[in-house]
Amino acid sequence: MSNARPEFLDKGFVENGQKLLKFVMEYHNNIRNFPVRPTPALKPGYLRSILPSKANEQPVDFSSLYSDIVNIILPGIVHWQSPKFHGYFPTGCSYPSLYADIISAAFSCIGFNWSACPIYTELEIVMVDWIAKEMGLAKKFLFEAKLGGGGIIQGSASEAVTVSIIAAREKKISEILANTSQNLTYYEILSKLRAYASDQVHSSVIKAARLSAIRLTIIESESDLRLGGDRLLEHIKKDTNEGLFPFFASTNIGTTNTCAFDDVETIGKICQEHKIWLHADAAYSGVLFFIEEFRKVLPKIDLVQSFAFNPHKLMDICFDCSMLWIEDGNAMKSALGIYPTYLKSDAQDIIEFKDWQVPLGRRFRSLKIYFHIKLLGMEHIRSQIRNYIKLGEYFESLVQKDGRLFIPYPVACGMVCFYLKNSDSLTRYLYKKLIERDIYLTSTEVKGRLLVRFPVGCSKVDKVDLDESWKLISEVLDDVLTGKDY
Ligand SMILES: Cc1ncc(COP(=O)(O)O)c(C=O)c1O
Repeated sequence: MSNARPEFLDKGFVENGQKLLKFVMEYHNNIRNFPVRPTPALKPGYLRSILPSKANEQPVDFSSLYSDIVNIILPGIVHWQSPKFHGYFPTGCSYPSLYADIISAAFSCIGFNWSACPIYTELEIVMVDWIAKEMGLAKKFLFEAKLGGGGIIQGSASEAVTVSIIAAREKKISEILANTSQNLTYYEILSKLRAYASDQVHSSVIKAARLSAIRLTIIESESDLRLGGDRLLEHIKKDTNEGLFPFFASTNIGTTNTCAFDDVETIGKICQEHKIWLHADAAYSGVLFFIEEFRKVLPKIDLVQSFAFNPHKLMDICFDCSMLWIEDGNAMKSALGIYPTYLKSDAQDIIEFKDWQVPLGRRFRSLKIYFHIKLLGMEHIRSQIRNYIKLGEYFESLVQKDGRLFIPYPVACGMVCFYLKNSDSLTRYLYKKLIERDIYLTSTEVKGRLLVRFPVGCSKVDKVDLDESWKLISEVLDDVLTGKDY
């Protein structure tokens, strides 16, 4: 048995690290050469027959591990950073944010409050304000404004909406309990609370309602997939008349299905009048707020109480990095703040981010934002976003020019959805055939119709890539429509 100190802990560390960084660069440079998804021969559970059934007692050397990356890990990867990937929504991977992940893993602090690691809290406070200003968010969301609001970086938009609904729930219950004319217990009130969202809402909002034991009413969207004020107001009035307590609504600024935008402004006025916490989910298309001319045509969000945006999507930050701004920090603190002696902080008058999130521990995600902005600059970030939008329009023009596929909803933020008119089963077949080819697509169902989704993809995509993707789609379409393959 050997107790020798593995060589990678000493001089090998830098050498091996350099090899890994080189791998990263070559991987990204050559990404177009990889088939975008693993071979169909890989079936669920395949790895069990490849790996030993038991952990090794003795260390292996680095070169053996390195060959595992190539031989075991890579074959199971779906290459989200490939320009052939148009599934779900794209995710970012800028080198500056990758550097930040390396450095923060090296520090490995769990900075849940100021005392646990001051720079985690300090940098996050500044970064959420920087981004809020770049996006033109209302002053009430800036820590700097000292109006009680501010932002936080979480792991996901799902966590963001979960904490928002819980804060709203506790705030509303406290208000009702304080109202002596209502002789109801906490749990009686809880059972009467109602939240609202459209049928286009992301599953994360439905999950958040489940997690917080809240009854969520799903409201049918308009034919253009927007949630307007009228239907929401009808539900609010009906529920109020029945003695229920409407308290929370979630709106979409860019739905996952088709990138539709709710009428947040009108809904905001209704929610304000009925004292309902309004959440806006801009996980994907929140980047549009960075561009002044786009902001002018986006829904006005001044009346929302919470606003979520994922920089790990189109801002090109490595997963995970999800931002949430809230108007009322105290509501969050009252709902989620717990103070056992072992978590006491020396600091006064500073935000304790552990009170604004589900987990206690927190990562140094603000460093990714800091590195990304410092090394790239906002001008470059904005031009990347503009380019993305243009590429979406370019792909739309390819589809329109061809004329065989139909785009039923406006293309927004680089998101193109299409189907074959007059035949849902043919669209299904087309989709089945497309995903057998070297392109990664996902589909969705909207108002009973199957749509193939095509978001532009990662930041590496250029016009030539879109030409290639269209060529492939067009070939499959030829086969399907000429009956050669149907
Ligand atoms: C509009 C929208 N909201 C919420 C989410 C949930 O994102 P997360 O993975 O950050 O929880 C997504 C995911 O793609 C999304 O598209």
